[in-house]
Amino acid sequence: MITLLSPAKINLFLKIISRRDDGYHELASLFQAVSLFDTLTFKRCEEKDRLNCSDPEIPVDDRNLVIQAVNLFRKESGLDFFVDIDLDKQIPSQAGLGGGSSNAATTLWALNEMFGKPVTLPVLKSWGTKLGSDVPFFLSTGTAFCQGRGEVMKDLGPLKISSKFVLTKPSFGMSTADVYRNLDISRFQERDLLNDLNTFLGGDGVYFNDLEEPAFRLSPELLSFKQSLKAEQVLMSGSGSAFFCVGDKVSIPCGTWQTKVSPVNRQATGWYTHGCVA
Ligand code: C5P
Repeated sequence: MITLLSPAKINLFLKIISRRDDGYHELASLFQAVSLFDTLTFKRCEEKDRLNCSDPEIPVDDRNLVIQAVNLFRKESGLDFFVDIDLDKQIPSQAGLGGGSSNAATTLWALNEMFGKPVTLPVLKSWGTKLGSDVPFFLSTGTAFCQGRGEVMKDLGPLKISSKFVLTKPSFGMSTADVYRNLDISRFQERDLLNDLNTFLGGDGVYFNDLEEPAFRLSPELLSFKQSLKAEQVLMSGSGSAFFCVGDKVSIPCGTWQTKVSPVNRQATGWYTHGCVA
């Protein structure tokens, strides 16, 4: 049996570069894992795979990226096995926090450990790419500059920012595909991305997210939600609907889901642990 944490992510900045012929978008984004975790427990079993999830709203069949990761690992590795998985969900869905992608990456890592590491980390990352654009990030050590459709990843190690963030989200979620479909490249500002990245590497931050504008056009309620949040900086994560608030003085309307998080980074040889806050 193996039990692993599966962290959420935020995008400290996210720039859309262009629309590709395959319908995806080229982007450049600084991803950071944060201390909001789902927990997955894996046990080998005899007959068929089973996924049990603490959230009854989440499908447990092959619409779930965990089951897709199990099927992919079995096919690519050629190993013959069945696995029984418990998923304790804390990361909200349709939030831009990468919960499903993180669960898929955690599953690939867990199965590789259970079977005595038949493949290397670069191979696991390449399998992760087949499951979703954000999956390889969750096989980084927790901070990465991602390009391409998100899967071309430079692992950076812990940033010097000592920020704590407050995550919050409205009661509704956003569809990633809808937000991307609604974006208009001509509305985006040019940016000096190397400078933006170096600013974070130097310990300061310039937070921005090109997906806010199309998300707000799609959902004016999401813009109203952002306007109800008071903090030094408030930024949407990924394609929403979650936001992260930066600074000491954060005010969020009562009754709204919120949780304090810190950046987390794992050691190169081990997985995320509760004590791995950077
Ligand atoms: O790769 P993933 O399945 O997570 O992407 C979900 C959807 O988000 C894609 O179907 C696509 O519409 C959109 N997307 C995109 N460009 C990216 C990543 C995602 O257009 N770089």
